[in-house]
Amino acid sequence: MKLLFLNGPNLNMLGIREPDIYGRRTYGDLENYIRSFCGELGIECEIFQSNHEGALVDAIQSAYGRMDGIVMNPAAYTHTSVALLDALKTVGLPAVEVHISDVSKREDFRQVSYVRLACCKTFAGYGFEGYRMAAEFLFVERKRNQKEL
Ligand code: DQA
Repeated sequence: MKLLFLNGPNLNMLGIREPDIYGRRTYGDLENYIRSFCGELGIECEIFQSNHEGALVDAIQSAYGRMDGIVMNPAAYTHTSVALLDALKTVGLPAVEVHISDVSKREDFRQVSYVRLACCKTFAGYGFEGYRMAAEFLFVERKRNQKEL
């Protein structure tokens, strides 16, 4: 199984940005964590971060025909981006939305998620662990679909 892990704007500043909300671990720590649980689960992973909406659209499109699913933390673009929603719908891959913080308990403007409309599941408020939960969810779903075929 091949999964694309996508991270949106300002997540490259993890460890520095609002540590009371996002913790003290860095973006490099997150990449290492993703690589390590993917290794354990036998998942091949690609990890990409960008501060630019179009670059994230390109990354989603590039997953078409190559990857089996997408784990995505679109960060602030969650709450604004129809382009990311359309890109997920375009490729039609199973996608899971992840947020480090519990967005449901934060400001009103964070209660809207466009990408959620194209995601089969959301994990929010579990810190880095949410990325693992998302990968495991996609892994189990794939096994289930393979059995049904
Ligand atoms: C975030 C939550 C978003 O509202 C915010 O804009 C982020 C990070 C999270 O991981 O908790 O940048 O996606």
